Amino acid sequence: MAARLTGREALHLLPSLRADPLAAISELTRTHGDLVCVPLPRGNQLTLTSRPELVSHVLVGNQDNYRKARTYRPLTEVLGNGLLTNEGESWARQRRLVQPMFARRRIDAFAPAMVDAASTAMDRWATLGEDSVVDVADEMSALTLDVVGRALFSTDLSGEASEMAPALETVLESFVKVVRHPLFMLVPDYHRWPTPARLRARGAERHLRGVVDGLITARRAVPSDPSDTSGREDTDLLDALLSARDDDGEPLDEQQIRDELMTFLLAGHETTANALAWTLLLLSRHPDARDRLVAEVDDVLSGRAASAADVTKLEWTSAVLSESMRLYPPAWMIEREARDSDELDGIRIPAGSIVATPPYLVHRNPEHWPNPEGFDPHRFLPGAADRHRLAYLPFGGGRRQCIGGGFAMLEAVLLLATITQRFELDLVPGHQPQALTAVTLRPANGIPMMLRPR
Ligand code: HEM
Repeated sequence: MAARLTGREALHLLPSLRADPLAAISELTRTHGDLVCVPLPRGNQLTLTSRPELVSHVLVGNQDNYRKARTYRPLTEVLGNGLLTNEGESWARQRRLVQPMFARRRIDAFAPAMVDAASTAMDRWATLGEDSVVDVADEMSALTLDVVGRALFSTDLSGEASEMAPALETVLESFVKVVRHPLFMLVPDYHRWPTPARLRARGAERHLRGVVDGLITARRAVPSDPSDTSGREDTDLLDALLSARDDDGEPLDEQQIRDELMTFLLAGHETTANALAWTLLLLSRHPDARDRLVAEVDDVLSGRAASAADVTKLEWTSAVLSESMRLYPPAWMIEREARDSDELDGIRIPAGSIVATPPYLVHRNPEHWPNPEGFDPHRFLPGAADRHRLAYLPFGGGRRQCIGGGFAMLEAVLLLATITQRFELDLVPGHQPQALTAVTLRPANGIPMMLRPR
């Protein structure tokens, strides 16, 4: 079903679209169907679709016509020419250079560091005593920052974490403030205005860049070992970025390496943290699913530490995570901007207008997901019913899909299995976690949970 709002309807919608975009787009879809066109001031237009066929057209079939939307611009201020925000030939060259670092074999090599990070966190929980309460939103954030630190830099960032986590948060908060400001759509460089939020973010960016620069400088200062004839592969992503060469033998320049590391730090940390935090919440609400998880983890691991080789056997664990990311996709929104005019099921898409393909709504489209609001990991077990390729897109689609998807799934499965081996967690009675649409879909008021050692 396709619908076009009148100018008057659109004007009424704007305040709620800014205040609570998730509620606003959910309501739009409920009322008008899976393709809605919203005329905006000054001839702009927002087209919202949760129909997988149309999402596929935008992100895959006709992707040459769609660039990242202007809503990504404030992120460009922070991430420069990193993979997430770059465009065109410069992006393509970089993606070619970086892609091999995310090959299965290379990612699997990070598994011991991931499990080690999780075990360290579990050892700390073990000192807290029975029925202690932890906020799993904060805990998962610290844990995935630890993993990213080890994988990127082979460094224990836990010393820096107390400052880095709030700095990352400030940057992301400022992004949301800027993008939701009424002037954002009207003034092309509003995101550069020195508003209080922007100034706070600049301070936080400087801090993060300082940490990244320090790590690059320290690595460059270590002379390569001439006696090392092992032909060993790079040990972490920083090594890999420093030694990457394109077809002409050219390395990445210093700025690009910095931008890429900032991108991995930002893109690779909160997303996975949120996926895990929502999963722990859902498990506490679905004891049957949790019992089956415990049984699988005990059966596959028999009490030993998890490894990359276990992941294919941890089918229910993976299915639980996939189903959790269906209901709470960390990247809840994906937006593109049309280069030339196009058409989606009879709706005209003018050049320069925005098309939104939110995974949150695609994943709850009742045409493609029976009982869309229900938590049912069976949907993701091997042999489950076929579905449209773009009916499920937690990692996006087309050329710009997440480069870290394999890394994230490996990490999430290993972390969840390690947590499950040691603890059962129950939501503190009476607490109602709310989804907040920041850059990622995160719990607005934390997820306090009681720890029960197993
Ligand atoms: C559960 C965890 C994660 C989720 C849900 C997620 C989701 C996504 C999505 C939806 C996109 C595409 C955005 C778009 O098309 O506009 C994306 C891109 C990207 N992600 Fe992830 N991501 C996750 C973890 C990671 C990790 C662990 C890393 C790196 C270590 C990472 C690095 C990136 C990068 C560099 C891009 C840009 C790729 C490009 O445009 O070439 N992500 N991610």
